[in-house]
Amino acid sequence: MTSDPTEIVTLDSGGGGRLYDQLDELRAAGPAVLVKLLDGVATWSVIRGDIAKELLVHPHIFKDPRKSWAGYRPGAVPWLYPFVDVINLATSNGDDHTRLKQLIGKAFTARRIEAMRPGIEAVVADLLEALERRGATERVDLRTEFAQGVPTRVVCDLFGFPADQRPEVLRVMGYVFARDVTPQESEILAQDLHRAMRTLIEAKRLMPGDDMTSLLLTAHEEDGDRLSEAELVSTLILMIGAGGETTVALIGAAVRELLSHPGQLAKVRAEPAHWTDVIEEALRVHAPVMYMPLRYATADIDLGDGVVIRAGDAVIIGFGGHGRDPEIHADPASFQIDRADKQHLAFGYGTHYCLGAPLARLEAQVALPALFDRFPQLALSVAPDQLEPQHSFIGNDVVELPVTLGPAASPSEPAGPRAGGGRTPVSRGADPLAAAPPAVLQDR
Ligand code: HEM
Repeated sequence: MTSDPTEIVTLDSGGGGRLYDQLDELRAAGPAVLVKLLDGVATWSVIRGDIAKELLVHPHIFKDPRKSWAGYRPGAVPWLYPFVDVINLATSNGDDHTRLKQLIGKAFTARRIEAMRPGIEAVVADLLEALERRGATERVDLRTEFAQGVPTRVVCDLFGFPADQRPEVLRVMGYVFARDVTPQESEILAQDLHRAMRTLIEAKRLMPGDDMTSLLLTAHEEDGDRLSEAELVSTLILMIGAGGETTVALIGAAVRELLSHPGQLAKVRAEPAHWTDVIEEALRVHAPVMYMPLRYATADIDLGDGVVIRAGDAVIIGFGGHGRDPEIHADPASFQIDRADKQHLAFGYGTHYCLGAPLARLEAQVALPALFDRFPQLALSVAPDQLEPQHSFIGNDVVELPVTLGPAASPSEPAGPRAGGGRTPVSRGADPLAAAPPAVLQDR
């Protein structure tokens, strides 16, 4: 690292408006700016949209800390565990990345994703029914009672989590993006995460099912070179982590913006084809993953303006920076579903582009119209600027999304297919996360 360490700013973990303000400050400060993360981890932050894209496909920027990060000491920084110490496709390059992506990619082909639609519709229908039982004027946390239910149930179904293990896995995953935890808490959470995945693997070993975990386990047991034990656990951590909280934030951001812009809500109600615009504009303005630790330079990279990233340095890309870059978008912070150019890097770019992007988009496309159809008078209970941001520089969400639902309209069509149909089995009845029996992990 080249700069004077005393001058290094800390990447703000307060979330919300402060996160956006800091994006602007860092973008103005240079093509890359040295910052500190929690526990003193030093890294170059890259916010400018054009530089971010350049580095995301740069031949000397890698994601494998074991091979490329000069300062890497495995396990030394507990909060980095789910992002850096794990061994999965998000921390691999080259042949390892290709091998792991081939294994997981089977579940994410366009055909497989589309086959999940009936299951997603059924999950959404269940959640809406549960919401209908709440009073029309009662304050409801839509994040917990709707936004969170959709992707977490879908991803838990996809990976075959038994109902009794879901509360524990969702508890620990909920903390992965939260950055206001102490090193000791991070260490315990890392152990809990690891244990939750091991418990799932043991359950699948005893009783395999038609799910991704059983498929990965078979690959591991047939040939450890195709998928090692450590890769199996790490892959589960990646998939559950990536597939849950991110889409929760997307659904929540779209709801918040539409409720704050009644004209745009009216427009999308009148022309449902605009739901795609709503989703892309929410991703552009409120990237659910603001930053994702970490990348590493394997050669010196001269970015101009006197900034040289040295071989072995860590780099963090601000995925939320591109959509808010004034060089790319006019009035970038304002939510406008009819703006012509909504390009963003919310799902990344290049080799590590989000594998679950089509699934996340499909979930939002099913969930959002169904919610607004069922509750035509949905309203925020507090002013948008009063919503408490998630305390993180990784996840970009609010802690709670308080709304009043208003009277429910009849479902526009019968709830999606509830039995059979589609590859993904879905949970039935009331929210299993609330109703499931206590977590089996009693040794915590
Ligand atoms: C709105 C929702 C989502 C957002 C904003 C999001 C964002 C991202 C971003 C920014 C990356 C790139 C990370 C990097 O290059 O360092 C990524 C990678 C990834 N995402 Fe997503 N994601 C979402 C949903 C999902 C879902 C639903 C899944 C799967 C169930 C998923 C699985 C993955 C995987 C496996 C990778 C790693 C790909 C690789 O390294 O090759 N994501 N995601």
